[in-house]
Amino acid sequence: MDILCLTTCFLLIISSKVSKALDMISPSDSLTDGMTLVSNDGSFELGFFTPGSSKNRYLGIWYKNIPIPMQTVVWVANRINPITDFTGLLKIETTGKVVLQGQNRTTTVWSTNSSTEEVGNPILQLLDSGNLVVKDGNSENYVWQSFDYPTDTILPGMKMGWDLRTGLSRRLVAWKNPDDPSPGDLTFGVELEGNPEIVIRKGSTKYSRSGLWNGDGFSGAPVYRSNPVFTYDFVWNEEEVYYIYFLKDKSVMSRFFLNQTEGAMDRYTWNPETQTWNLFHTIPNDYCDRYGVCGANGTCDNSKFPVCQCLKAFNPKSPESWNSSDWSQGCIHNKPLNCQGGDGFIRIQGVKTPDATHSWVNKSMDLKECRVRCLKNCSCMAYTSLYITGTGSGCAMWFGDLMDIKQQQSYGQDLYIRVSASESEELKKKHTMKLSLIIATPITVLSGLLVVTYYIRRSRGKLKDNGENEDLEHEVFELGTISRATDGFSSNNKLGQGDKRRCKVLDWPKRFQIICGIARGLLYLHQDSRLRIIHRDLKASNVLLDSEMNPKISDFGLARTFGADQTEANTNRVVGTYGYMAPEYAIDGLFSVKSDVFSFGILLLEIISATKNRGFSHPDHSGNLIEHAWRLWKEGRPLELADDFLANSDNLSEIVRCIHISLLCVQQHPEWRPTMSSVVLMLGSENELPIPKQPGFLLKSPFETDSSSGNDGSSSKNEVSLSLLEPR
Ligand SMILES: *[C@@H]1O[C@H](CO)[C@@H](O)[C@H](O)[C@H]1NC(C)=O
Ligand SMILES: *[C@@H]1O[C@H](CO)[C@@H](O)[C@H](O)[C@H]1NC(C)=O
Ligand SMILES: *[C@@H]1O[C@H](CO)[C@@H](O)[C@H](O)[C@H]1NC(C)=O
Ligand SMILES: *[C@@H]1O[C@H](CO)[C@@H](O)[C@H](O)[C@H]1NC(C)=O
Ligand SMILES: *[C@@H]1O[C@H](CO)[C@@H](O)[C@H](O)[C@H]1NC(C)=O
Ligand SMILES: *[C@@H]1O[C@H](CO)[C@@H](O)[C@H](O)[C@H]1NC(C)=O
Ligand SMILES: *[C@@H]1O[C@H](CO)[C@@H](O)[C@H](O)[C@H]1NC(C)=O
Repeated sequence: MDILCLTTCFLLIISSKVSKALDMISPSDSLTDGMTLVSNDGSFELGFFTPGSSKNRYLGIWYKNIPIPMQTVVWVANRINPITDFTGLLKIETTGKVVLQGQNRTTTVWSTNSSTEEVGNPILQLLDSGNLVVKDGNSENYVWQSFDYPTDTILPGMKMGWDLRTGLSRRLVAWKNPDDPSPGDLTFGVELEGNPEIVIRKGSTKYSRSGLWNGDGFSGAPVYRSNPVFTYDFVWNEEEVYYIYFLKDKSVMSRFFLNQTEGAMDRYTWNPETQTWNLFHTIPNDYCDRYGVCGANGTCDNSKFPVCQCLKAFNPKSPESWNSSDWSQGCIHNKPLNCQGGDGFIRIQGVKTPDATHSWVNKSMDLKECRVRCLKNCSCMAYTSLYITGTGSGCAMWFGDLMDIKQQQSYGQDLYIRVSASESEELKKKHTMKLSLIIATPITVLSGLLVVTYYIRRSRGKLKDNGENEDLEHEVFELGTISRATDGFSSNNKLGQGDKRRCKVLDWPKRFQIICGIARGLLYLHQDSRLRIIHRDLKASNVLLDSEMNPKISDFGLARTFGADQTEANTNRVVGTYGYMAPEYAIDGLFSVKSDVFSFGILLLEIISATKNRGFSHPDHSGNLIEHAWRLWKEGRPLELADDFLANSDNLSEIVRCIHISLLCVQQHPEWRPTMSSVVLMLGSENELPIPKQPGFLLKSPFETDSSSGNDGSSSKNEVSLSLLEPR
């Protein structure tokens, strides 16, 4: 080893010791104006600085690698209490409290709150992330950190939002101007009302919103999303709600901060070649990003002229001012809502969801439950899926004015807006379909059984063409007979089309009227007529409705008369229609008034749900309509059985009561079923009802793959094992 080497090595040791700046102080040290702390990797520096043309001194953190003329401060300690001389001093007390003194060290201009925890060996350290932290010795737990008290800048890794456990809220407040870090009136933060959103405010006024967090992004702010420069996350759980982003390449310098002068939240990245900050994006980005520019119930679309439009099914509240581009008065519904009598929804796509202030969310409801819930609440004006990832999940609802909706071409999500039923195409389509399957098919005018049968057959044939899996009832008539019976195929006698008008007629009060009518009719047959009559084939297609919607029970082809004291009979020719037959009848050929009650129960379920028992299928289980009704009943959600069209009825309790009665009627054992006279009483009173036991025929029986029905009952078998019955 020669002299030269020894000297070099020695110099190297000296110089590395000298140039390596400190990144921490302990209670025995202090930092005075002129000294700095530099983070271990040299990214950030903490010290005293003077902004712009000001004369004041502030303690702050800035990027170490950006030259002084461009000095970029990311955090300020004493932003409201400047130091007026060069005597500032920063120290950490043995309790872990950090104190900044100024004014000839006579005044504390800033300090952290004393920690409640015991701190044994506190140190103050500037981390590579730009976070200034108080730690207890080598423990990695922070007693205090500057990331919890941001100024105007979000650095990568900083949680912007709430710690719900401690109530800590991290938000940004802009500098007043480039010379003065004291608070301006522009703020940025996560607001928790309704559901969390990022909101920029000017003073107390909302200035720009991100829209709902939908699992994929914020519905109205693509700028927060991942891109070539950074990834991001939004955490929303019981403990925390915050936005955070991370740089993909740590050598890139990026800052996201509030600019009071510009009135915007800007993201810049540093270009080392040109030594300048380059604007990456800005919020608000366009006119429509500004809060509520189109007024209540309006929507803003940058691709339209004028940018403000009323929501579909709405009109300007004041057409005069709307025409003169004063949109502040917003829009009102074209057709007034009728919460009791049939509102619906229309879907608009690609929107930033409305202001969340008057909103409500449930993370576990699905879209269908959401719709039903919204329909039931008269102040609910819109709903949508909370999360759009996958097939969508969760529920978000809005009440009252719909504020700040933005229409976007390639971003955003669906929103379902409440409109009057007549405006809702979705409703029209859906319900004529559904109703036509059961209620509309056998409907209308007593004009003779031949006509009925013929036209049911025709209409079912049509349905089949439409892909509906309907069975055909095979009746054969001479053409001449039919022609005579139908008045030369007059369209006046046409049945079973389910024409749209009629479907709307069948609101709940009408359906209840039909139910009560059938019950009374059956009671008459069972009890009040001269002879006790068991119908044996009660089903939807044997109930005819007149133009007043009064039901008439028809088709007595299978009926049996009983002596006054006879209650039960046995047949070895089981006739009737599968899907309506009571278990003891279908299996053992036993029929009684109670087997009619069973059929009535099925009919009731069908009328409420607008779904046929036979051919019923549900994605969640393989059971039939009875099973479905029973499941929902047990789960305490009976109303979900009801046809959506009824969901907004003001007689929800009556619907539930009818479901309850229908379950009593379809009990496994005949003796558990009420008589028709009890049913009529139950329908007409509010007395407490017995608790239903598990109904009969929960699972699809093998019978339910085919049908038998006939006036002479020739298509009958009384053996369970027989599963396929040939039509005549
Ligand atoms: C600052 O304090 C020192 C020592 O206490 C004193 O001599 C000096 O006059 C003070 N300066 C001012 C400007 O108050
Ligand atoms: C100290 O605590 C008060 C009240 O809890 C809070 O408003 C303030 O922001 C805290 N200051 C710091 C620097 O932590
Ligand atoms: C704030 O915005 C103004 C106007 O766009 C711009 O001149 C200024 O440089 C921005 N401030 C900072 C700190 O970038
Ligand atoms: C508003 O403008 C539309 C389209 O130009 C026009 O049809 C309508 O009459 C105007 N309404 C009023 C109240 O000025
Ligand atoms: C959210 O929806 C689920 C599923 O429908 C329900 O169990 C839960 O009670 C709802 N929560 C609230 C607060 O309504
Ligand atoms: C509608 O929902 C709002 C918000 O959840 C609630 O305050 C109100 O009581 C609900 N109204 C009805 C009739 O359920
Ligand atoms: C927005 O629409 C709702 C529902 O029709 C209505 O109650 C409200 O008054 C409307 N807002 C304005 C400002 O017209």
